[in-house]
Amino acid sequence: MKKRVVSGIQPTGILHLGNYLGAVKKWVSYQQDNQECFYFIADHHSNTLKLLEKIEEIHNNTGLPPDPRFKEKDNLDDYCIKTAACLLASGIDPKKSCLFIQSQIPQHTELMWILSCITPISWLNRMIQFKEKRNKLDNLNSAGLFTYPILMSADILLYKAQEVPVGQDQLQHIQITRDLAERINKLVNKKILIVPEYTQTDYSKVMSLQNGTKKMSKSDKAKLSTITMVDGQEQLQEKIIKAKTDTFLEIFYDTEKRPEVSNLISIYCALENIKLTEFEKKFEKANLLEFKKELVKSLEKHFLPLCEKTHKLIKSENDYILDVLNEGKKRATVEAKETLDLIKSEFNYL
Ligand code: ADP
Ligand code: TRP
Repeated sequence: MKKRVVSGIQPTGILHLGNYLGAVKKWVSYQQDNQECFYFIADHHSNTLKLLEKIEEIHNNTGLPPDPRFKEKDNLDDYCIKTAACLLASGIDPKKSCLFIQSQIPQHTELMWILSCITPISWLNRMIQFKEKRNKLDNLNSAGLFTYPILMSADILLYKAQEVPVGQDQLQHIQITRDLAERINKLVNKKILIVPEYTQTDYSKVMSLQNGTKKMSKSDKAKLSTITMVDGQEQLQEKIIKAKTDTFLEIFYDTEKRPEVSNLISIYCALENIKLTEFEKKFEKANLLEFKKELVKSLEKHFLPLCEKTHKLIKSENDYILDVLNEGKKRATVEAKETLDLIKSEFNYL
C-alpha cells in the first residue's frame, strides 16, 4: 500500500553534502518506491533565525548573486528557489512528488495556532534544539524559535503524513507531532489525524570537514568545512585534500579517537553504499592520501553531477522551477484545506 511521506527543509542556504546524505537522498528513495510524497521548503521556519544576515553571508560564500527576477515575479525569496533547485537536482521529481513552499499555504500557520492552544509549555521547554539555538543567539531568540516544533507539527499533520524522514536532530519534534495528533484525536473522540512514524535516515550525521565534532551546516562560516551543492570539481578536491585529519598512519574508524577521519570514512561508505567491513577490506593497505583521492573520485561520481545540475537550474531554468512550485502549491492547497476544514468542523462541536 502507498504511504504518505512528508518532509521539509529550510531555505537557509545552498544545501550541502550533509543535507543530501542525511535527508534528501532518503526523500528521493521514497519516490522510487512510489510512495505519495509531499516535500516543502520550510521558509517560515527559517524566519526564526536572523534570516537576512544569514542570507547575506551565504550569498557571499557561494559566489552566486541573487537573481532580482524572482522578487519581481513572485516575491519569492531567492533562497527558496535555490533550495528548490538543489532538491530537483538531487532527484526530486515533480511528476512523482508534490514540491512546494510552506509560506504559500496559509493553512500551516492557521493549524499551528490551533495546535499552540493545546500544547503544554513544558513540552516545548524540553526541546534540545531550542536550548542550543537560544544559547547561541544570546538575546536574539524569539517566541517563534520556541514554538517552532508546533509549526513543524502543523506541517506534518496537515498532509496526513505516515512517515517523516528527517535527521536525528529532529526526533523530538516528531515526538511532539505524534503527541499532538493523539491529543486532537482524543479531544474530538475520533481518529481524524494520522500519528506519523519517525523515520530516521540511515545516514544520520555528516560532520564538518574541519572539525569532526561539529555537524556540517549551512551556517558554518569556515569555507573549507562544508561541501555544497554548487561546488565544482576543484572545490571538491580542495576541500577533501585539505580536510582535517590526524597523526595516525593507518586508516581505521573510531569516532572517539579520530572524529575527522571517521567522518570521511562514513561519507565514503554512504556515497558508495557500502558497509564499514567492505571499506576496511578495500583500504587495508592504503594511506590517508590515497584514501582521500578515492573519496574525491567518489564525490565526483556520485555528488558532482548533482552540483552541476543545481548550477544549471539556478542559472538558466528559473521559469521551470517557478512552474514546479506553482503546481506544488495547487496540490498542497487541496490537501491542507481538507485537513484543516475537518479539524475546524470537529472543533465546532466541542
Ligand atoms: P543546516 O544545519 O545545514 O542548516 P537543516 O537544519 O536545514 O541544515 O537540516 C535540513 C535537513 O538535513 C534535516 O533533516 C537535517 O536532519 C539534515 N541535516 C542537516 N545537517 C546535516 C548533517 N550535517 N548531516 C546529516 N544530516 C543533516
Ligand atoms: N525543522 C526541520 C529542519 O530544520 C525542517 C522542517 C520543517 C520539517 N517542517 C518540517 C521536516 C516537517 C519534516 C517535516 O530540518
